[in-house]
Amino acid sequence: MAVGIFDSGLGGLTVLDAVAKRLPDVPLVYMGDSAHAPYGVRTPDDIYNLTISATQRLFDEGCDLVILACNTASAAALRRMQESWVPQGKRVLGVFVPMIEALTERQWGDNSPPREVAAKHVALFATPATVASRAFQRELAFRAVGVDVEAQACGGVVDAIEDGDLILADALVRSHVDALMRKMPQPDAAILGCTHYPLMEAEFQAALGPDVKVFSQANLVAESLADYLARRPEMVGPGLESAFLTTGDPDKVSARATQFLRRQITFTAA
Ligand code: DGL
Repeated sequence: MAVGIFDSGLGGLTVLDAVAKRLPDVPLVYMGDSAHAPYGVRTPDDIYNLTISATQRLFDEGCDLVILACNTASAAALRRMQESWVPQGKRVLGVFVPMIEALTERQWGDNSPPREVAAKHVALFATPATVASRAFQRELAFRAVGVDVEAQACGGVVDAIEDGDLILADALVRSHVDALMRKMPQPDAAILGCTHYPLMEAEFQAALGPDVKVFSQANLVAESLADYLARRPEMVGPGLESAFLTTGDPDKVSARATQFLRRQITFTAA
């Protein structure tokens, strides 16, 4: 009974960590495509092809349900995968919807018409591909009216995190927050729309100031997955072992993952 969690690299570990705490008895197979990260500067076709090959690898590991813990893949590939690729009996879910439900004060599966919500000015920080897809604005429009979204494509942040260069990542976060705040001086809420960014959440909050509520996905996705599995327990697949797989260098990726999660994480080659 394993669930698969996929990201282009290390960012999805923020989701894995929250899921492991919320569902300690469910084996989790993590797949990080570090050899091809960052996805955020790739074309939608490229992101689609890489995401289906990583997802297939997780199905082969005994997962029937795969969480794309990657906003870029969720934005650029998920709908196409669901429409034309996901095999019978398998399920692939993304990470956008739980976050938008939290922002728009909705319970899971509340499909009532869009309505006014408390947040009026929302800053979205995401990769260039996620921003270009406008998937966040599209999902938001199904649920809320009158929300002004200003998106900032945060070039370079994922690369810096993957390289373990947190000084550079911090400098880039500050400059992207400055750029956003020139366009929207007083956001009420900020969305960390890339699963790598919670690794820099304190830096985002410091740059945004204490009055901006920062939404990050890990706990929201974990809660929503627990809810889903309570209703669909059969979607926990036949795999019995937890594992961490990478297309990158397992030693290097293990060292970074151990540094980020502050516990020993050992990756093997995918
Ligand atoms: N963690 C991925 C996301 O949530 C990073 C994308 C990338 O590789 O650029 O978007």
